[in-house]
Amino acid sequence: MCGIVGYVGPKQAQDVVVEGLRRLEYRGYDSAGVALVVPGDVISLAKRAGKLANLEKALADSPLPASHTGIGHTRWATHGAPNDVNAHPHLGHERRVALVHNGIIENFADLRARLEADDHVLLSETDTEVVAHLVELQVESGVDLTTAMQRVCQVLEGAFTLVAIDAHDPDRVVAARRNSPLVVGVGDGEHFLGSDVAAFIEHTREALELGQDQVVSITREGVEITDFHGHPAEGRRYHVDWDLSAAEKDGHDWFMRKEIFEQPRAVADSLLGRRNQAGLLQLDEMRLSDDEIRDVDKIIIIACGTSFYAGMVAKYAIEHWTRIPVEVELASEFRYRDPILDYSTLVVAISQSGETADTLQAIRHARTQRSKVLAICNTNGSTIPRESDAVIYTHAGPEIGVASTKGFLTQLVACYLLALYVAQVKGTRYGDEIDEIMVQLEAIPQQIETVLAGAQQVYDLAREHTGTRSVLFLGRHAGYPVALEGALKLKELAYLHAEGFAAGELKHGPIALVEEGLPVLCVVPPRGRDQLHEKMISGIQEVRARGARTICLAEEGDTRIEPYADVLIRLPRVPVLLQPLVATVPLQLFACELATLMGHDVDQPRNLAKSVTVE
Ligand code: F6R
Repeated sequence: MCGIVGYVGPKQAQDVVVEGLRRLEYRGYDSAGVALVVPGDVISLAKRAGKLANLEKALADSPLPASHTGIGHTRWATHGAPNDVNAHPHLGHERRVALVHNGIIENFADLRARLEADDHVLLSETDTEVVAHLVELQVESGVDLTTAMQRVCQVLEGAFTLVAIDAHDPDRVVAARRNSPLVVGVGDGEHFLGSDVAAFIEHTREALELGQDQVVSITREGVEITDFHGHPAEGRRYHVDWDLSAAEKDGHDWFMRKEIFEQPRAVADSLLGRRNQAGLLQLDEMRLSDDEIRDVDKIIIIACGTSFYAGMVAKYAIEHWTRIPVEVELASEFRYRDPILDYSTLVVAISQSGETADTLQAIRHARTQRSKVLAICNTNGSTIPRESDAVIYTHAGPEIGVASTKGFLTQLVACYLLALYVAQVKGTRYGDEIDEIMVQLEAIPQQIETVLAGAQQVYDLAREHTGTRSVLFLGRHAGYPVALEGALKLKELAYLHAEGFAAGELKHGPIALVEEGLPVLCVVPPRGRDQLHEKMISGIQEVRARGARTICLAEEGDTRIEPYADVLIRLPRVPVLLQPLVATVPLQLFACELATLMGHDVDQPRNLAKSVTVE
């Protein structure tokens, strides 16, 4: 997830673009850059690694020439480290076209190889630079920038918003989108492009929403929209009545709520570009050789908090699909128990921020014992992936709300991908089985949409619980970590006593907590594993018989659960191992809404920080 801005009009483009980037910085802050078409028909460009402030300082020291046409970008790195060279905008071979990009070009490796075979020198590790070269090749062949963009989009695979300028066409900015956001700001004698309306809300509140697979060309005079084949198309015009803070949150009251609703997109992005042309899984930054993977005889997952719960889910998937034994350990405890590690142990460190001190110290310890460390991380260039032997980036985009939501779901995706990749290399699953699971994973974003469409039921439920002092969560198998995660969310946001239990464990003590009217949220496993489902129902009966109010999350069509549920929240039908991807969402919504109703600051709960850099 990156922030993108484009401008053409009477104002100084540098000022408008940098201002827009400041409004979009919440979308990414690894690096920033701006490119302008300046007199003499050349591109003038500045870009810097790090926060926007670094770029602003560079521009203050040496401002770019005056210009009325420009583009800008604030980056959340996906391909390549967050440094000056990989920062956007990127230029074509002749420095005629400058281009910025949000998203992932899945077939960039093939396209890059073809360009390099034609003697193109690519300076960065990004997928974006490839597109800049391709668009420039088209304009050099004599077509206009709009046609060039249409033609290039026809060969691109993946998700992208692209915005480009051509030094030989100084009064135009052209953009395209597929599965990635882009809005047009309609001004008086000026037009804007942005990843969202926050980019231009200070200048205009009139906006045009683009459809899928569309190209838009803006000039001072107007806006032209086509599809990728040049056929005229239309955008949806609307008036924005949000203030700036709501605009940054896409109209939501909290970043956390926005991030919950972003999860279908985040999960889809996390799955993008993971298979090659032959359909085989490939994990880009997985710097472990097949031989090293074949040598692995034990996996230890280390993580903290929500990331630890992702690790607990991963254990079920990895053991089932690869038959390699997995231990899951709190990072803060790991090195103090003198764990048994050697070169055939793979340590998997899961961290959204990539900076958690407990996890970092644990991987340092593992590496001194000659174990290989693989990081699952959302933050490109952060310390944990830098100190690891291999990394899988989760591609969720920045998570601003302190409580992890899309970070968690995309960590789960990365864990499933890791498990399937190891299964592919070790041959513990047939290719068609791996294919089938990938298809099931690819259907998940749509299924999360279904859960989100039912948010109102969860909000109503939260309203009924504003006076509650204690809530229990029950789950079994992969639903057990979901129960723990639901309880953690409620503790950290609503400051309530909340506990998650494995349903079978209740009778060994915790059932004494149950009293008349106590809300118990139960994550009911899908019926695919009959025994699991039946055992869960027994657990629910036990608490209900003692007066608990049971709120059950159960799949569509599960009628067996109906007599035991005081409240029933329906989940889409998914395989048991993937159920955490859908079952966690109502629990996030519940905690977010209850905390809101209780008047708490949901984005910055008391006593908590987003990156915990002390042990
Ligand atoms: C809870 C939460 C924390 C983090 C934990 C680890 O909502 O966000 O429990 O999961 O502090 O952080 P990372 O994943 O950045 O290492």
